[in-house]
Amino acid sequence: MSVTRTREFSEVAAEVRPEADRLIALYPQSRSALLPILHAFQNVEGWVSPEAMATAAEWLSLPLSAVESTASFYTLFFRRPVGKYMLQVCRNLSCSLNGASEIMAYFREQLGIAHLQTTPDGTFSYEEVECLAACDRAPCMQVNLEFFYDLTPADVDAMLAAMRAGTFSVPPLPQSAAPGKDWHVGQDTGRKSAGARDVSSPNDPGGMGDRSGVLMIERLIRDPAPIDARPTRERLVREGEARLSHDSEH
Ligand code: FES
Repeated sequence: MSVTRTREFSEVAAEVRPEADRLIALYPQSRSALLPILHAFQNVEGWVSPEAMATAAEWLSLPLSAVESTASFYTLFFRRPVGKYMLQVCRNLSCSLNGASEIMAYFREQLGIAHLQTTPDGTFSYEEVECLAACDRAPCMQVNLEFFYDLTPADVDAMLAAMRAGTFSVPPLPQSAAPGKDWHVGQDTGRKSAGARDVSSPNDPGGMGDRSGVLMIERLIRDPAPIDARPTRERLVREGEARLSHDSEH
């Protein structure tokens, strides 16, 4: 995918370099500064460009593959130019039990885009992500990596209106390159998520290795019998304890 830059990378690198030097000096091993340096690039560019990854590899004397594999592990790093507001809604277990499907469908409807897409005006990018570790405040999301909890459709309305009016509490991302319509990266297109695209129900967001596009939890809710019948480790331990106490009483 070709990217049209609106800011030269040499300028970006010059801006990030002092912060990178400061970060590297904090750690006994320079490679420990990798994640904060990638964040520093993203703070300046709005994404982590291939040039940024190559430069981080050079500054830290790491193989490029180590940097790329680290960046690609996290949905915290955007490896394509994205919109000014990066909307990442959690689709994992707790959030799904608490209405994430409704929130995701509402976002898609309001934005007119699907998972891993950007609106034509380059304002919003949308992604459905795995657990954001805020399960006690489900359903939740991140906007430009800031958390928002206990979401309702009314919250989505208020949030999008404030972003469009330029009054939202989280500042927009910088954009060193124009975002394309789709921003998924090669290895993200396979098992990771079928997303909302080409599935019959927009409320079925897909899941890890789930080719049907039906979220695993929805399946379990629809057909709980196999769970009760399954000898889970917890159940075996519970039953073992019950047997032991029964034996000791007799
Ligand atoms: S399941 Fe959504 S934050 Fe954990």
